[in-house]
Amino acid sequence: MTDAWWKSAVLYQVYPRSFQDSNGDGVGDLRGIIARLAHFTELGVDALWLSPIFVSPMADFGYDVSDYTAIDPLFGTMEDFDALLAGAHARGLKVVLDFVPNHTSIDHPWFKDSRSSRTSAKRDWYIWRDPAPGGGPPNNWLSEFGGSAWQFDEATGQYYYHAFLAAQPDLNWRNPHVVAAMHDVMRFWLRRGVDGFRLDAIWHLIKDDQFRDNPKNPDYRPADPPHCRHIPLYSGDRPEVHDALRDMRKVIDEFPDRLMIGELYLPFERLMAYYGRDLTGAHLPFNFALLTAPWQAREIARLVDDYEAALPMGGWANWVLGNHDRPRVLSRVGEAQARVAAMLLLTLRGTPTLYYGDEIGLPQAVIPPERVQDPFEKNVPGFGLGRDGCRTPMQWDRSRFSGFSVAAPWLPLTADWESRNVGCERDDPGSIYNLYRRLLALRRVHPALGVGSYRPAAAEGAVLAYLREHGDERFFVALNLGASPATVGMPDGRGTVMMSARGRREGETAQGLLKLAGDDGLLIKLD
Ligand code: GLC
Repeated sequence: MTDAWWKSAVLYQVYPRSFQDSNGDGVGDLRGIIARLAHFTELGVDALWLSPIFVSPMADFGYDVSDYTAIDPLFGTMEDFDALLAGAHARGLKVVLDFVPNHTSIDHPWFKDSRSSRTSAKRDWYIWRDPAPGGGPPNNWLSEFGGSAWQFDEATGQYYYHAFLAAQPDLNWRNPHVVAAMHDVMRFWLRRGVDGFRLDAIWHLIKDDQFRDNPKNPDYRPADPPHCRHIPLYSGDRPEVHDALRDMRKVIDEFPDRLMIGELYLPFERLMAYYGRDLTGAHLPFNFALLTAPWQAREIARLVDDYEAALPMGGWANWVLGNHDRPRVLSRVGEAQARVAAMLLLTLRGTPTLYYGDEIGLPQAVIPPERVQDPFEKNVPGFGLGRDGCRTPMQWDRSRFSGFSVAAPWLPLTADWESRNVGCERDDPGSIYNLYRRLLALRRVHPALGVGSYRPAAAEGAVLAYLREHGDERFFVALNLGASPATVGMPDGRGTVMMSARGRREGETAQGLLKLAGDDGLLIKLD
């Protein structure tokens, strides 16, 4: 298993609406991604994960699928998809699709059939319940996107369940016909040659068969999103979900070398179960700990240790610094620390996932109220949950609309787009873009960084330091998470600085007490 491609790979998430527009409608598309394939090789990543490109009314921008085996015309055609896959493969890039198994769109023919009558053959493909005895929703389950998770359907007098929008009814994964249909969807794409799936919202897949009320969350604070009022004990992360994942993994394993990633917002001790008994679950249950971790050396050292300790035997680690649901890393940690964060992501042990735009340091964009698109923000305003700010168009150059489109893009560019773009940063040796490129290049040629072991070295003050080792190769990574200069003791012996987050120190010999400038990080190859 050490040679599975995804262990040494770096994944890159493309949000197709925002990557590159090719037909002048202000929304990115597949032809646009094809036109930008050289970017992935220039940057030095190995695999693309595309957020959903399937037919959808776009109530949740593609996470509401109405046809799982067709490409939405907004993004292009099946021919475009095949061309993208072939073009990526010709460059040695893998392509991972986003599979949304938990729910369909309200427009999916399965749901239309299901809601048409109580006796529909597809009634049980979704989760229908009678009103509570006194009227109202069947139980207290809450939607992640605000309000009750139950929607009343006048025509048949029952409620259907939706973990997210009412326009995203949950499928009933206890029904074997649903399971078989969804497995066939997976086979459809695997046969076409895709290299794997990222499984969306996978902890939601199975719900309590007795539909028991969720308990109140005693730690709920008014600033928390409304659905956090309850602990989702019965509506998610049920024991039977692991059987469903094991069966999906069997489908994946019908094809050689495919990858199964799970989207899971769970604490480590519960996350680990998603590797499955004897590793028969997801290859990579996404590790989102860095998305919310306080940016302090001790906190991060502790969470890395906790994660490493919790991993099951043979389970492969992974790290995520940004995605299309959470605020941009640059705005979370600050401009100066974004470089240190890049160094952390690309030198920790395990498969990293990069989010498009983070390589050029895109900030969380400020979206004027009249331009809000995200249904989450519209449903639950005032909590700062809006996801538009991390979904703004990729910035390529200084031309109008930054080379993203010839038309006004669906979301605004960031205020500083004229300097914060791939073209300008490529020409600036000190840019964050070139930092990412150098880090990725080093990771590619040094197995210690790609697949080596991890050993904590120090977490003192603002400094976080660790060793990565493989065979005779040893690296010492020292990161200053603060703005003031700091020092840290090197391991015995000498080393050479291969990279510094702020530049200017490459080639220095390092020994003994290592001095770090504020907001700097050093990657040192030990002799
Ligand atoms: C996942 C997606 C998110 C989407 C939700 C519902 O969390 O990442 O964007 O809104 O599922 O499908």
